[in-house]
Amino acid sequence: MGTKFTFKDHSHHFLTKKLLPFALYALIPLLLFRLYIHPIHSFKEHVPQIKEQVPEQNKIVEIASCDYTNGNWVPDKLGPLYNGTSCNTIKEGQNCISHGRADMGFLYWRWKPKQCNLPRFQPLQFLNILSNKHLAFVGDSMARNQLESLLCLLSSVSSPVLVYRDGDDNKFRKWHFPSHNLNVSVFWSPFLVKGVEKNVNLDHNKLFLDSIDGRWGGELDDMDMVVLSLGHWYLHPAVYYEGNTILGCHYCPGLNHTEIGFYDVFRKAWRTTLDALLRRREKPLDVIVTTFSPSHFEGEWDKAGACPKRSPLKKGRGRLRGWMKR
Ligand SMILES: *[C@@H]1O[C@H](CO)[C@@H](O)[C@H](O)[C@H]1NC(C)=O
Ligand SMILES: *[C@@H]1O[C@H](CO)[C@@H](O)[C@H](O)[C@H]1NC(C)=O
Ligand SMILES: *[C@@H]1O[C@H](CO)[C@@H](O)[C@H](O)[C@H]1NC(C)=O
Repeated sequence: MGTKFTFKDHSHHFLTKKLLPFALYALIPLLLFRLYIHPIHSFKEHVPQIKEQVPEQNKIVEIASCDYTNGNWVPDKLGPLYNGTSCNTIKEGQNCISHGRADMGFLYWRWKPKQCNLPRFQPLQFLNILSNKHLAFVGDSMARNQLESLLCLLSSVSSPVLVYRDGDDNKFRKWHFPSHNLNVSVFWSPFLVKGVEKNVNLDHNKLFLDSIDGRWGGELDDMDMVVLSLGHWYLHPAVYYEGNTILGCHYCPGLNHTEIGFYDVFRKAWRTTLDALLRRREKPLDVIVTTFSPSHFEGEWDKAGACPKRSPLKKGRGRLRGWMKR
């Protein structure tokens, strides 16, 4: 998210605390993998009943429908595929080990869905499946973190080359894996649609719900798979436009617009986005969507918090609140 919640009278400030931060990153490669087994080339196609073939220990096993979100963290002796010393695309500010963190126990956990086994991520297999493709992550800091995690997983077997970089905080980047001619890119676009982010001269975001953000939309033709991962920026003060009309605003005291909340505009933004994706028909495009996700930091994002947890949250802690389930 990388954003500050400036208003406290809503129930979402809990987001800045606790919730399971890493389940999502663990699941993303699996979701990507699944899509390549059952690609969804059109939103109109019916998604087949999940019956998938997952290679595990060299034999093909059939796994019945599995709810990957229902499970537990279990201790894992194998440890992660990467850590702060083995991945060189990891950001300095995220590298606990180089900043002197001494305990390493937090690295030795894995996610175990109740109904099935989640095979260990196989970077080489992933690279083979996605060779000659362009995988793009589009969204807010959640998209960026998913990308960073994937890069580290893949760089345990093949070194990526940074081929493009632009924007503050490298908001737009592209890596190339020469070994498999795979491109992986990230596009900062916290609203998906056109928008002006709040800044020193503007105390709210301005969103134009009827057109997608050209910064990523303009490169859609080049993409083979896109992960859209965003949500939290919709909680911020904003004024919403459709054409030349102001539809209303969200949390904008002082402006003379009707408060319309963010759910409906969020839906409109997704419509605009999905319509644009459907219009692109030159080649197949796989689309993976994540919306509101648990916070990926503890405490206030801009207050230099630490990550003091040594083990995953116990069951029942960090429950999602009602508004998130809507
Ligand atoms: C980090 O990864 C490297 C390479 O796999 C490994 O040698 C090292 O032991 C790992 N460090 C920790 C703390 O797990
Ligand atoms: C990857 O990016 C490079 C540099 O932008 C480009 O020349 C190449 O065609 C791209 N390959 C794929 C598979 O998208
Ligand atoms: C706010 O909008 C209403 C309706 O358009 C208008 O009657 C009123 O004068 C406006 N108030 C201000 C302070 O602009």
